[in-house]
Amino acid sequence: MQDQAEGLRRLLSGAFVRIVTLASGRRGVGKTTVLINLAAALAKRGKQVMVLDEHQGAHSVAGTLGLTPYFDLSHVVRGERTLEQVMLSGPEGIMVVPAGSGVQSLAALGAEEQASLVRAFGQLSQPVDVVLVDAAAGVASHVLPLSLAAQELVLVVDPQPASMTDAYALIKVLNQGFARRSFHIIVNRVSGPEEGEAVFRNVAGVADRFLKVTLDYMGCVPRDEKLRRATQLGRSAVDAFPAATAAQMFRDLAEEVDQWPPPGGEEGQLEIFMQRLIQTSRAAALEPGVPGRI
Ligand SMILES: Nc1ncnc2c1ncn2[C@@H]1O[C@H](COP(=O)(O)OP(=O)(O)OP(=O)(O)O)[C@@H](O)[C@H]1O
Ligand SMILES: [Mg+2]
Repeated sequence: MQDQAEGLRRLLSGAFVRIVTLASGRRGVGKTTVLINLAAALAKRGKQVMVLDEHQGAHSVAGTLGLTPYFDLSHVVRGERTLEQVMLSGPEGIMVVPAGSGVQSLAALGAEEQASLVRAFGQLSQPVDVVLVDAAAGVASHVLPLSLAAQELVLVVDPQPASMTDAYALIKVLNQGFARRSFHIIVNRVSGPEEGEAVFRNVAGVADRFLKVTLDYMGCVPRDEKLRRATQLGRSAVDAFPAATAAQMFRDLAEEVDQWPPPGGEEGQLEIFMQRLIQTSRAAALEPGVPGRI
C-alpha cells in the first residue's frame, strides 16, 4: 500500500528514470568502455546514474574500474543483502550494481522473491535518473531480457565486418523474435566521423531491406588509447582527459540521451522495469530457441 502511494507520488511529481541497455552482437567492441564514459558524461550533467552490470570478473564494469564486488543481485533476490549493500561506488558517484547470476535466475523466482526484488528497486534511498545496463554480448536467449525490458536500446558496433554482421543478427533476433522495433547505434573505434557514418549506413542498409525497424545513429567514438588508460586508472576519459576528442563525443552522446523524450507514465519507474525484466526473463526462458542468424 505504502509502495503504491510512493509510486503515485513520484508519478505525479514528473520524476522519471530512464533505462538504457547497451548491447552488442559480439564481444570486445568496447561496450563497457562506452558505458563507463557515457555514465560519467551523464553524471557530469548532474544526473544520478546507476549501472546494472551483467558481466562478472575482469571484464565487468566493476572489474574494468578496479572495484571488487562482494555481493550481487542474486543476494538481493535471496533477501540476504539490500540493494544499497550490493552497490559499489564508481567514479563521478556512479552506482554500480553487479547483477552476477541474478538476472539469469529471475525466470525461476517465486512470487514472494519477485515482489521483494521489485520492492528493493522501488524503495532505493538514493534517487536515480538514469540506469545504464551493460548486457552480456551475443544472441543467446538468456541475454535478451535486459535488452527487451529496457526503454531504450543502444547497440555498440565497431568497424570490423564481423561486428556489423553480428549487430544485424542481434537486431534481427530482437525484432523478429520479440517485436523490438527501435534501436540506437553507437559506432566505436572509428578513424573519423566518416567511418562512423559508413558503418551505420552499412548496418542500416541491410536492416531497412529485410526488417521493419527504426535505427537511430547516435554518433561515433574515435579509437583512442586514452580510453584504455583512463579505465586502468579507475576513471573515465571524460574525467581524466576532458580535452580528448573521445571525451567530447561522450559529452555529445550524453546530451543526446538527455534529450530523448521522457518515458510515458509508469514506464519511468524503476520497479516497473524490474517487473518487466522478470516477465521478459520468463518469456525468454519459455522461448524454444532464438531465431537463427542471417
Ligand atoms: N575507442 C577505443 N579506442 C581505444 N581502445 C578502446 C576503445 N574502446 C574500447 N577500447 C579498449 O578495447 C578493449 C575492449 O573494450 P571493452 O572492454 O570496453 O569491450 P567490451 O565490448 O565491453 O568487451 P566484452 O565483450 O569483453 O565485455 C579495452 O581494453 C578498452 O580499453
Ligand atoms: Mg564489456
